[in-house]
Amino acid sequence: MRILGIETSCDETGAAVLKKKRESRRIQLHSNVIVSSLDLHAKTGGIIPEIAAREQIKFIIPVIEKALSKAGLSYFNIDAIAVTFGPGLIGSLLVGIETAKTLSYAWSKPLIPVNHLIGHIYANWIDREESISFPALALIVSGGHTDLVLVKDHGKIKWLGGTRDDAAGEAFDKIARLLGLPYPGGAVIEKTATNGNPKRFNFPRPIIDSNDFDFSFSGLKTAVLREVQRMKKLDKEIISDIALEVQNAIIEVLVAKTLKAARQYKVKSILLAGGVAANQKLRDEFKLKTKHYLLDAKIFVPQKSLCTDNGAMIASAAFLNYKEVPWQKLTANPELYFE
Ligand code: KG4
Ligand code: ZN
Repeated sequence: MRILGIETSCDETGAAVLKKKRESRRIQLHSNVIVSSLDLHAKTGGIIPEIAAREQIKFIIPVIEKALSKAGLSYFNIDAIAVTFGPGLIGSLLVGIETAKTLSYAWSKPLIPVNHLIGHIYANWIDREESISFPALALIVSGGHTDLVLVKDHGKIKWLGGTRDDAAGEAFDKIARLLGLPYPGGAVIEKTATNGNPKRFNFPRPIIDSNDFDFSFSGLKTAVLREVQRMKKLDKEIISDIALEVQNAIIEVLVAKTLKAARQYKVKSILLAGGVAANQKLRDEFKLKTKHYLLDAKIFVPQKSLCTDNGAMIASAAFLNYKEVPWQKLTANPELYFE
């Protein structure tokens, strides 16, 4: 079976073709095409929804055509179309959804709506030989979300906690801006932090010991703002030192809360997902701390290129949660969360 996955919830236009043989567990990536309007948003330091939607309109058909041609396939080789229906920016979502509905009707193919957040989790199943055992715990860390969810099985998800204010990626982005670094900030902070001194600053680890699975990152941002105002002038060295301490603070909180939940729910797997999961230090810390605390859970991380928004994760989620809907019934849900 082959599924065309379409993702347009924000500033990335993504389309991918994935294949799964009935007798095999493996979900194979045929093609994965992503065009981003990030450069336009970098100029304004954040995403302007109207611009993102206009760019989606420009790219959606060429991106789908390229995904099919890169896979060496035509539309009649596709068995179903999966598309993100929320959460996200309404204008951007509508471009993907209306295109998927039109193709579903014109090509007579089943249509499978996918929750973007669940899509991020399923990036972990792409091109993976080994099986992922349940119950699993998923940490979704992106620009818009920071959530901990228990995955009891495919389609059986329980939300455990999330951020009370800024998402982890949003904290990286906003703090990068305070330091005069370009948008989006996560990857830039990671790079800048490599030369940092870990002893110079000491920022808070917000609600690290709270008796729940919630997160909060706005206090960290305020602490950095105060430090930047106190310093008056930032040089390269100070920026590196702040970047390292910020990265350490965010990672420490994410690891602590996730491992606490892993212990409490006795999970067999921990799945990292979302743009921030591309951070190498975060990946390394998770592996190190799981070993250190002798947890039985195995850590899974998607390929780095599949951590940020893409169509492949949407198709992967559709394979393992196959629920088609008539095209007439599908609408965008910008506020969609975990049911
Ligand atoms: O999942 P994603 O592409 O979009 C959303 O659904 O939000 O995530 C984008 C976020 C941005 O906030 C970006 O700064 C962050 O992921 N990010 C990173 C890294 N690469 C991207 N954060 C930390 N380290 C990275 N290497
Ligand atoms: Zn995302």
